[in-house]
Amino acid sequence: MMPSFPNISTSKNQQDGRKLANGNCKNQQVLARRQLILQHRKSLPIASVERRLVEEVRKNDTLIIVGETGSGKTTQLPQFLYNAGFCHDEKIIGVTQPRRVAAVTVAKRVAEECNVELGQKVGYSIRFEDATSSSTRIKYMTDGLLLREALLDPLLSRYSIIIVDEAHERTVHTDVLLGLLKKVQLARSHPTTNQHNFIKANAKGREDEPRSFSPLKASESAKSTSLKLIIMSASLDARCFSEYFGGAKAVHVHGRQYPVEVLYTYQPEPDYLDATLITIFQIHLEEASGDILAFLTGQEEIESVERLVHERIRQLPDGSQNLLTVPIYASLPSEQQMNAFRPAPSGFRKVILATNIAETSVTIPGIKYVIDPGLVKARSYNPVTGMESLIIIPTSKAQALQRSGRAGREGPGKCFRLYPESEFSKLTDSTVPEIKRCNLSNVVLQLKALGIDDIIGFDFMEKPSRMAIVKSLEQLFLLGALSDDYKLSSPVGQQMARLPLDPMYSKALILAAEFKCLEEMLIVVAMLSVESIFYFPREKMEEARAARKSFSSPEGDHITLVNVYRASAECLEKSKTTNCKEKTMEKKLNKWCRENFINYRSLRHARDIHSQIEGHIQQMGFSPSSCGDDMLQFRRCLTASFFLNAAMKQPDGSYRALSSSQIVQVHPSSVLFRTKADCIIFNELVRTNQNYVRNVTRVDPLWLPELAPQYYAADS
Ligand code: CDP
Ligand code: MG
Repeated sequence: MMPSFPNISTSKNQQDGRKLANGNCKNQQVLARRQLILQHRKSLPIASVERRLVEEVRKNDTLIIVGETGSGKTTQLPQFLYNAGFCHDEKIIGVTQPRRVAAVTVAKRVAEECNVELGQKVGYSIRFEDATSSSTRIKYMTDGLLLREALLDPLLSRYSIIIVDEAHERTVHTDVLLGLLKKVQLARSHPTTNQHNFIKANAKGREDEPRSFSPLKASESAKSTSLKLIIMSASLDARCFSEYFGGAKAVHVHGRQYPVEVLYTYQPEPDYLDATLITIFQIHLEEASGDILAFLTGQEEIESVERLVHERIRQLPDGSQNLLTVPIYASLPSEQQMNAFRPAPSGFRKVILATNIAETSVTIPGIKYVIDPGLVKARSYNPVTGMESLIIIPTSKAQALQRSGRAGREGPGKCFRLYPESEFSKLTDSTVPEIKRCNLSNVVLQLKALGIDDIIGFDFMEKPSRMAIVKSLEQLFLLGALSDDYKLSSPVGQQMARLPLDPMYSKALILAAEFKCLEEMLIVVAMLSVESIFYFPREKMEEARAARKSFSSPEGDHITLVNVYRASAECLEKSKTTNCKEKTMEKKLNKWCRENFINYRSLRHARDIHSQIEGHIQQMGFSPSSCGDDMLQFRRCLTASFFLNAAMKQPDGSYRALSSSQIVQVHPSSVLFRTKADCIIFNELVRTNQNYVRNVTRVDPLWLPELAPQYYAADS
């Protein structure tokens, strides 16, 4: 067995019953920790420019701050501003992050630095999780969440300062947020003039809207004060942000960077996972102490490399087995994410297996070696076909440099790029903003809900193509979210905008209430929101297949997911009846997952998401319903919801997607991989060497014109 990652904060002394001595010891530990944190804070590069930064924020309404990753921007600046009195009149400092992990880990860290309980003065709020209270003054959140808050409070009037962090990542939410914040800032600084349009637009068509969309009242608007905006970025190119914000001032915070030796392979690596594995052990066995950070593209890859590392460790001689793995990716439960930040126990080396989350979003101490296969998983959108897919593409030069920089934070380091040097020069300079390569339905729906009707005229930092906007308007119309004149429809569009989900999933839930299978659809939406519920370890492939078979439905993956969820709920239910404590119940669930080759982390995450969406649904007044075993009804509902993702079998066994005419294959992970149904609906398109569809269910082709006549009736 691999040694599990010990909880460093619980020393052995605390467990052996010497309580008196223990109390003192604990106090001393706490004091020592506080001292350490204080020293650490003082040593950060940003500490020496605190006064200057506060001054710049006072002088400028919009400020751009560029600084090396790890210089202290995210954790320190909000504290500087709080101490400088920017939270007067109960106002809040909001800090947005593109990623949930960053929002959570940073909030925890800052709460600890401030010596307060998380959720009090310092808190975080992310989709499906809120750790804030009325006393929260420094609030970390995802950029998507702030966008949703704007639905309830169009002028974001609770905030005195909004810091848009990691702006260089240019996620679609960041880009939309920047456009929106520009409007809000203008409206708040000129409440009588510029605000008018904005508020008027918001108030339009709102007569019969749910209460939560309350348009701003005149008296409230008069009270609103100016909003300070700070855009923070790790990359050096502040020009584009400055230009967008009318020549806003940019300041640079110098970081501390030690030299990093960059090594390349002689030849391209045919199997980058294998190459990663070999490099991990090469470093572990040949290089001086120091932790390793390896960049992989997603949860599945991380978990498979993790298993292989464990396997190989067992084959090493006794003295060399001191290697620990720590995964970190967006959907990892937050307490497990924290493992990446804990130092490895003495004598051990840790290898962090991360997605590009560790590029800039989170700074993990102790890294000396970086392994960079040079790849990243990215969204890609084809506006002609209207299909979005996930693809693995080469990183940009900027990303490669960020990654190697992670090795030189605390001392000289090494970066192993798993590609030849000649390949580096072929990389693009920077990553294309996500808004130019994703389906815009979600963005358009949110802007519409904010009262911004002219999407093409919206002041985007970089405009998405007109075709992509038109396509998403069309898609939203087909889903019933928009009326004939492309205004948010009532009530479907409004309900869809309130749910923090992809528009197609929101629609599926609304329809499920009508089809009386809400319970099942809720499960499916939650399960589809996480990566890889099943896992197939190489060494136990047959057992894993057999386990999955016990949940498989001949109708497809959606019902299979429902079966897994129901079985896991039964396992928990059984523990409840035997009066188990929560911890024991979780242990039982974990064991059940291992026995059934179910990914415990993913299932836990899906359960959390499930209960959160359930809360939203209840608030919206939907009554619970279940179709029980009537899966025909459920499949009809899937068809009515995902009709835009339908495909017909071709004579050669491949499928043709009906909306795009693209040829696709059923992914080998699907239960319908071998049994070829005539007509299917799917949820995800993955592009590797072929177009694969995942999460597939067999449907009757006649249901398409019947249940989605707005799309199929004319042709039939
Ligand atoms: O935002 P920026 O990259 O400039 O730095 P930061 O995230 O504020 O991190 C500053 C320092 O705090 C780094 O040296 C991290 O090691 C430390 N930190 C930490 O120990 N734990 C966290 N959860 C976040 C940051
Ligand atoms: Mg940061």
